[in-house]
Amino acid sequence: MMRTRPQNVGILAIEVYFPCNSVLQSELEVFDKASTGKYTIGLGQDRLGFCTDHEDVISMSLTVVQNLLEKYSIDPTNVGRIEVGSETVIDKSKSIKSCLMLLFQKSGNSDIEGVDSTNACYGGTAALLNAMNWVESSSWDGRYAIVVASDSAVYAEGPARPTGGAGAVAMLIGPDAPIAMNRTCIATYMAHTYDFYKPNLASEYPVVDGKLTQICYLRALDACYNLIGQKYEKQSQQKLSLSDIDFVVCHSPYNKLVQKSFARLLYNDFCNHGASVVDLKPLHAYAGIPVAESYTNRDLEKTLMTISKEEYASKVHPSALIPKQVGNMYCASLYAGLASLLHSQREKLTGKRILMFSYGSGLASSMFFLETRDPSLQSRFNLHHLADSMGLSHLLESRNIITPEEFNKTMELMETRYGGCNFVPSSPLNQIREGVYHLTGVDEKFRRTYERKSHSYIMQEEN
Ligand code: ACO
Repeated sequence: MMRTRPQNVGILAIEVYFPCNSVLQSELEVFDKASTGKYTIGLGQDRLGFCTDHEDVISMSLTVVQNLLEKYSIDPTNVGRIEVGSETVIDKSKSIKSCLMLLFQKSGNSDIEGVDSTNACYGGTAALLNAMNWVESSSWDGRYAIVVASDSAVYAEGPARPTGGAGAVAMLIGPDAPIAMNRTCIATYMAHTYDFYKPNLASEYPVVDGKLTQICYLRALDACYNLIGQKYEKQSQQKLSLSDIDFVVCHSPYNKLVQKSFARLLYNDFCNHGASVVDLKPLHAYAGIPVAESYTNRDLEKTLMTISKEEYASKVHPSALIPKQVGNMYCASLYAGLASLLHSQREKLTGKRILMFSYGSGLASSMFFLETRDPSLQSRFNLHHLADSMGLSHLLESRNIITPEEFNKTMELMETRYGGCNFVPSSPLNQIREGVYHLTGVDEKFRRTYERKSHSYIMQEEN
């Protein structure tokens, strides 16, 4: 008997988590003796979320996956694949995915494929594509896939530190999804660059060439947008421009780069066919400038930012909520942007085309379309439920504001914890929300144990 291919495969449900502690970027500016407005306007960031030594990428992943299972009453035996994207290395061999199996122990389900994917902030997208491919393949057995993107983004003291953040996103993947991925129109651009990398395995901090990361990011954006445009035109016999796109969600290292990215898409529309969602006449003065110069020409950038401002507000700003409030969540950043869009546009989201841009330094990047739709009547997943169940307003508003002094002290503590063993976390446990998983200790053999706050049992490995 021929089985029909699953249709409209995509995101059925989404869950977001970020730590309770945050520092105000305006206070960080003062503390760092940066000029007023550098972090808040210059980088476009409001707050920075961070983990204490009670939390790490594993605990945040446990929290989002358990919440996803509970909120949507997913039977743990009905999960057949878990893919994790992260660049925060706790163990060079043991995957985060293997730790997530703790959540499935009680159900007896050990038949769950998938491990971790790593390439800077791209791992979450690699995980998503793997999960999508599985559901669409002949090896799919009808069960759900779960994609987890989880990272703690920390930088050494200096100009990159305010672009840190932390958090995790879990997505339930299956057919007949309210957020379906267009599988025939995906563009990928990969290259060998040293813009941001982590060669020092004894440190959690990356080596960053800040200026180079910005240009690599914009070059990757251009390459992906042009390629997806070619594929779109082949399929629809129409040229792609921002007029065909309702919302744009970009990986957000900091908001200003996202603003510049949207402006850059407009520039691509100008170079490709001279038409877009706004009047492009002001760009005629820059016609024919060499591509390399177009990345550094400040007048061009200023003009682009000015003419794109209004469209940015309607097409991009709705996805900027969590990224501006929490900071770069590396692999989770793009999907926290998507969650923000769902939260802020819940009333007007059906039938929309969303352009997603994923970027991971080093570099790996992809651009794809998500399309929002009403699933069939039999489905228990829909956009409204999805937006409501995240509880984002409460998560954002109930956070602690920590002073920059305390934040820096925590970073110092975390430096000693990274790669360490034989310790019990010493930060105040009251800074962790109820129902959240947290680290209870790392023994002399580097084995980590986790507990759910207000839940009495300590999770242990299977014997
Ligand atoms: N008021 C308003 N704006 C200001 C002020 C002020 N008082 N002071 C500075 N600015 C502006 C600057 O003009 C600049 O704007 P521009 O980008 O439009 O030129 C912006 O604030 C940042 O100032 P810079 O001097 O360029 O900042 P600096 O070089 O110190 O650091 C950087 C910025 C490079 C982004 C750094 O934070 C970094 O390295 N971050 C990590 C790397 C990163 O996130 N890369 C992005 C892609 S890769 C990834 O996802 C990790």
